[in-house]
Order: sequence, then C-alpha cells, then structure tokens
Amino acid sequence: MAETKIYGHRGCMGTMPENTLIGFQKAIDQGADGLEIDVHMTKDGEIVVIHDETLDRTTNGSGYIKNHTLYDIKQYSSGINFSHYHNYEEMWNREVVPTLQEVLELLTPYDIELNIELKTYLVHYEGIEEKVLSLVHQYGNGRNVIYSSFHLPTMLRIKKLNPSANIAWLLNTCISHPCDYIKTMELEAFHIDTATVLSSAYYLKDLYLNIRVWTVNDSHDIKQLLDLNVNTIITDFPGDALSIRNER
Ligand code: G3P
Ligand code: CA
Repeated sequence: MAETKIYGHRGCMGTMPENTLIGFQKAIDQGADGLEIDVHMTKDGEIVVIHDETLDRTTNGSGYIKNHTLYDIKQYSSGINFSHYHNYEEMWNREVVPTLQEVLELLTPYDIELNIELKTYLVHYEGIEEKVLSLVHQYGNGRNVIYSSFHLPTMLRIKKLNPSANIAWLLNTCISHPCDYIKTMELEAFHIDTATVLSSAYYLKDLYLNIRVWTVNDSHDIKQLLDLNVNTIITDFPGDALSIRNER
C-alpha cells in the first residue's frame, strides 16, 4: 500500500515566509514529498508565485498582481512581513516574489512533486492555463505536477489543453457522488480541507487514494489521516508531519 505523502503548504509557511525560494528549499531539505504553491499572472503576462490577488499582505508592496509588471513586483520584499516569526533572520528581507520558472528551476535537481494551485477564483487571468502548462513543459523536467484550483473551468481548460495533465479540484465542502466527477471530468484527485474529510470519512472512504487534504497542522489530525491512508497531507509544517509519519 502506498504511503501517504507529505507536501509543504506554500513551501513551509509555518516556519518560513510563504511562497518564497528559501521556504521551498527548507521543505525540500526537510524531505517533503511535494510542494504546494499558488500562482497569479502579472500585467505583462508573467506567472508569479504568491498566494493573494494583491501584494499587500505578504510583501511591502501594494495593489493587485494583475496591475503590476514583473519588474515592479520584483522591487518588493516577500520576506520582510514575516519578521514576527520566532526564527526570523534579516536575510529573509532579500527574498522577492518568485516566478514559476524560478521555482521549477530550483526543483530541477530534486525528485519532488509539485502542486500548482491556479488562483483564478476571484480574478480572471486570460491565458494563464496556457502559460503555466508551457512553463512546466519547458522547465518541469518531467516531474509529477498536479494542477489544482477552486475554479473548475480552469481545471477543465488545463485538461483540454493537455489531456495527460493531472487535475485536482479544490473543495471545502463535500459534494454528492464524488466518484462521478472523477470519472466524467477525468480528475486525478480532489483536494479537500481537513474538517470536511474528517467529518465525511465514511462517505469518502472509496476515494482516499484520490484525496489530498489541506491544511493539516494538528498532530492528532495528521495521525487520523495517516490511518485513513489518504493520498497526501498538505501541511505548513512538513518537517513535523514527516517525523510523525516516519516514526510509525
Ligand atoms: O491547496 C490547498 C490550499 O492551499 C488551498 O487554500 O488558501 O491556502 O491556497 P489556500
Ligand atoms: Ca494554495
């Protein structure tokens, strides 16, 4: 039976600035089986790795990603707003918002999976699916990439453009007859929040191998999900989750 995988959420966001190259490197060094990242598109059509639609929360810039060029965005720090972390180091201030290409290049030497969440739920980015697929094709080194989104049309577009792409639909509720969706839309997986999975355990029982669970930070939840043998646990603390898994 395949072991439940551990993915670092936004890299290693429990202890490092989220969606940064230093955070991704930390999760890699801890031995994560995969990384979960979020992508948006700039005014000049570049794919950048950042969680929110705007720069405000995670950088010292402001405004919508879609209204800034990549050059503008690169002027800001993506580490400085995490100076309240207990392990903060001044070098974090030099981190900038990475592009998807930079992340793919960072991963080149490593055998690690990548979950790219396309943040197309609130803002429409014309052509983002083509650009993401093209970057993965050029720089992905054949690694296992899973494309996910809360926005179902984005996933269907990815599948249409590349029928062999692994697409996963992000949910924070239980839908009826989930197996039907797997078949008819050729979903590789559902990505479902912890509370929904744990409260719908019986209902989802035939699907565990097709379920990645987010964002699981509580050790009791991690143990329960390991017992259920879900496909993947996505966590802010990949090092801790790996210790729990590897001690069993
Ligand atoms: O991909 C799972 C999880 O990351 C979805 O929520 O808001 O952390 O992107 P969020
Ligand atoms: Ca995400």
